Amino acid sequence: MAGEKPPFLKPFLLLLPLSLLFFILLHSRPSATSTSVSTPISFSTPSASSPFIRIRRVFPSYDEYLKLQLNKTLDPRLRQLWATRDWDRKVHVFSQIFSRLQSRHLLSNSSRALCVGARLGQEVAALKKVGVANSLGMDLVPSPPLVVKGDFHKQPFKSNSFNFEFSNVFDHALYPDRFVGEIERTLKPGGVAVIHVALHRRSDKYSANDLLGVDGLVGLFKQSDLVSTEKVDAFGLDTEVVLRKRN
Ligand SMILES: *[C@@H]1O[C@H](CO)[C@@H](O)[C@H](O)[C@H]1NC(C)=O
Ligand SMILES: *[C@@H]1O[C@H](CO)[C@@H](O)[C@H](O)[C@H]1NC(C)=O
Repeated sequence: MAGEKPPFLKPFLLLLPLSLLFFILLHSRPSATSTSVSTPISFSTPSASSPFIRIRRVFPSYDEYLKLQLNKTLDPRLRQLWATRDWDRKVHVFSQIFSRLQSRHLLSNSSRALCVGARLGQEVAALKKVGVANSLGMDLVPSPPLVVKGDFHKQPFKSNSFNFEFSNVFDHALYPDRFVGEIERTLKPGGVAVIHVALHRRSDKYSANDLLGVDGLVGLFKQSDLVSTEKVDAFGLDTEVVLRKRN
């Protein structure tokens, strides 16, 4: 029919703004560093919510904090070490730790278990070894098949997902309250959190906070009761804190 545009022009005109938008979105994404996490973490100056927690330093942005964390996690020399010389020794020690928790009925073979900040996942391997088949690790850098990608300030899991959570990276938390809040959110009611911390020794330069007393950690748990605090000897960490989320 005379006067009408060629039929192919209409879809093209419709698609043009869409593809432009797509192009803009694609190129306005943060530069392609692996530091970007799928869900943005709101950045604010962290506050030590307790006299027993000291925040080490203030970062100009959340990305700067992640950069420092990833610097250790991605260090090829360290990763090589963790995967080889460290592996058996760590799995062995973690297995003993988890066996003890099993005998105290704080962990069972049918537990759905999460290890927060698991790096290559020795603790996950240990859980599986002692019979907890449904166990998973989470870290900024995934390490398949044991460890999936996730930030402990904003866990990629639904609320009430796990019966058991273990972590020995509390000192890496920039926001200790969010670290704990996420554990409590993703634990099922009645679920158990086991946290290993260093109370009597300063940890490494990648630490974001120093814990000066166990009350600093326990006080952050708002929906849980303290089960026990005990001495452990676990890779430089000296105290095991066990809490149970209330029903
Ligand atoms: C990251 O590590 C490299 C060497 O491995 C070092 O030169 C650099 O300063 C580190 N960056 C940060 C932010 O610590
Ligand atoms: C849990 O699993 C381990 C390893 O398979 C097994 O040795 C143990 O007996 C199991 N515990 C219970 C209570 O079934």
